Amino acid sequence: MSGSSRAERLAALVAQEGLDQLLVGDLVRLGDSAPDAISSLRWLTGFSGTSGLAIVGADDRLFLTDFRYRERAEREVAAEFERATVERELLAGAARRLRGRVGYDDANTSVKNLRKLQDLVAEGVELVAAGGLVERLRRHKDDDELRAIAEAARLADQVYEWLFERGVVGRTEREIMLDAHQRMRELGADDPSFPAIVAAGENSAVPHHGSSEREVRPGELLLIDMGAIVDGYCSDCTRTVAAGEIHGDPLEVYELVRSAQVIALEAIRAGVAARDADSVARDPIVAAGHGEHFGHGLGHGVGLEVHEAPRLSQKSDQALEVGDVVTVEPGIYLPGRFGVRIEDLVTVTDDGCRNFTSFPKDLRVVA
Ligand code: CO
Repeated sequence: MSGSSRAERLAALVAQEGLDQLLVGDLVRLGDSAPDAISSLRWLTGFSGTSGLAIVGADDRLFLTDFRYRERAEREVAAEFERATVERELLAGAARRLRGRVGYDDANTSVKNLRKLQDLVAEGVELVAAGGLVERLRRHKDDDELRAIAEAARLADQVYEWLFERGVVGRTEREIMLDAHQRMRELGADDPSFPAIVAAGENSAVPHHGSSEREVRPGELLLIDMGAIVDGYCSDCTRTVAAGEIHGDPLEVYELVRSAQVIALEAIRAGVAARDADSVARDPIVAAGHGEHFGHGLGHGVGLEVHEAPRLSQKSDQALEVGDVVTVEPGIYLPGRFGVRIEDLVTVTDDGCRNFTSFPKDLRVVA
């Protein structure tokens, strides 16, 4: 990445889009959390609170917050931003400072707040829907971001090892989930990146199963999907293991998913269309008659959010770029029976990818 700051790069993008300014931040709840907008604000300014807005233009680097967050803003917000504390409403404070053609994040602005903003801005200010600009820049992780993500992934690997050494048979999904969260925090994670998915037997056929009171029984598959947050950055990993010895179809499906996952990893590199990466994993699964059992995309971007750009799926028209951090996670789900998903987290490089996940993928038999 060049030496220019995030705000400088965003200002260039703002100008390129024919805008005078871009208003960055959560215009849905204005002060509570709208995660993606809050993450964009954090990425841009360093501010980790929930109540803030930034205005970026060729000559504008302005950060606004309210009384509750003034000290945090002093501590965290990058020095290039002028900081101001609004007297009353954040939106009114921002509106007074807008001029010209102003982009706003239409994916994170409520209709109500847009109307309010239109009423508040000065005459001549034109509000233009311009969602996704910060998100586009957030794709390219710098070294500090990659370090945090690598650490978050390493931590999740350690938690898997710890869980499997302790054993899973006879424990409930929920107990395993809570243990995973607890262990992650003990090892230094800020938090889990999402509530761990622990899915035993037929529950593993539900891709986003909510961990339940069901006990893990011998002779079935157990799927665990979890990640940690380190310095605000997420990891995401899935492993499917055998609770005791298993036989027949589950073994075959496991090997199919594993080989699809491995060839997809080999195909990942800068310049590859996200759709084509998805196809590399999908084709052998379709050929084996399981096309309809792989009902999600191959993967998604990961960073401050556990799901962010780019998407690796047939619906994507994006190409992979150096610095993207994405999951590679094919799965096969047989309703009422079992499911298998294997997920690694990688960063895209010129000639391939670097895999942050090191937990082995040979089918592990866990007591
Ligand atoms: Co994932």
